[in-house]
Amino acid sequence: MFKEEFIIHRNNLANLMADNSAMILFSRYSGEGREINRNFYYASGLNEFGDKLVITKFCGKVSAVLFIEPYDEYKAKWVGRGLFKEEATELSGINDVRYLNSFDSYVSMLCGSCAENIYIDFRRESINATLSEDEAFAKQITDKYPYVKVLNAHPLFASARTIKSDAEINKIKEAIHITRCGLEAIMTNLKPGMYEYQVESYFDQAIKYNGATGYAFNTIAASGENGCCLHYSKNNSQIKDGDLILFDLGASKDNYCSDISRTFPANGKFSERQKLIYNIVLGGQELMFKTMKPGLTTRDCNQVLIKYFATELKKIGLIKEDSEVSKYYFHGVSHHMGMDCHDLCDYGPLKPGCVISNEPGLYIAEEGIGIRIEDDVLITEDGCVNLSSEIIKTVEDIEKFMAEVKNNEKK
Ligand code: GLY
Ligand code: MN
Ligand code: MN
Repeated sequence: MFKEEFIIHRNNLANLMADNSAMILFSRYSGEGREINRNFYYASGLNEFGDKLVITKFCGKVSAVLFIEPYDEYKAKWVGRGLFKEEATELSGINDVRYLNSFDSYVSMLCGSCAENIYIDFRRESINATLSEDEAFAKQITDKYPYVKVLNAHPLFASARTIKSDAEINKIKEAIHITRCGLEAIMTNLKPGMYEYQVESYFDQAIKYNGATGYAFNTIAASGENGCCLHYSKNNSQIKDGDLILFDLGASKDNYCSDISRTFPANGKFSERQKLIYNIVLGGQELMFKTMKPGLTTRDCNQVLIKYFATELKKIGLIKEDSEVSKYYFHGVSHHMGMDCHDLCDYGPLKPGCVISNEPGLYIAEEGIGIRIEDDVLITEDGCVNLSSEIIKTVEDIEKFMAEVKNNEKK
């Protein structure tokens, strides 16, 4: 993404900040963490560990100061150099780039003179976790400048990140395309008798080859009854002839995620029963594509899906009462996605520009059938579009693809 995008992101945040305030952001989630804080990336466009960013808004005027490490010959030899000031400016659109050794005096100046509020990006895994850099910093501010109010930046990010820009949507689409390559590698190599992790390795190779910069989350490759465990991640069972195998996976590209689920027959052909259940799930997904639109919440959408599943499962005699749906479908149909697979969001009704998942599933453990079909969806002015429509999905297309692979092997 170009620097203009991050200038817009900072303005989005500044619009939500009170006047005469500063937002101070650290690049890591925690002291030695190896993950870039995605809020820091959202605001800066930088993936450099150790950098600090300050966004200020005084009398309505927005500015940003970036603090980076100076060139370090030792570090350059061992892990590669960091960015030079001009490079940081080019990526972030921040002209005022300084070295980290001037950060403390800058903060002293801010808190000692003009800032009424300091926003800090709090994130806490549990009450027992040690203080993050953000929390330790907040403590210092409250101790030393008790008249400066420390505020939580998190809701501002949640609100700003709920709506995606065109550039962000394009990044998600890039991640989706890479995931498609990975899924096709899976379909090309999948055979009964393989272990789930062996099939997974084809995905890994293909997404790396196609330019993935990471994984959106841990891959789920769940054959047979394993597919009925929502967060199955052992991926160590042998795949049996006649099994379905449920894949829930996603490449990420430049910090933006895809989140796709597909369910394939290991031997290339769905049984009649598998096909029946698969098409009920697919029908539910199609219903969701017609339902998802601005004004509804993801919970509203889920209620519509549950009603549909109740009707369909009664039709095939799997349940008698609507309330029994929860035996076979027990998660939500949708979540926001973006830089996090389960992205920050404001939890309000959907709005144009939201990107969410559409992921109905049915899990019939007693029959060893676990099916989830998941696509990534952009909410538009009056409905939604499927961002991952390029990825194979119908029974017919899946069987045709896998039959062609077999034919090619015979040649
Ligand atoms: N892969 C996680 C989810 O679908 O929510
Ligand atoms: Mn998923
Ligand atoms: Mn999902």
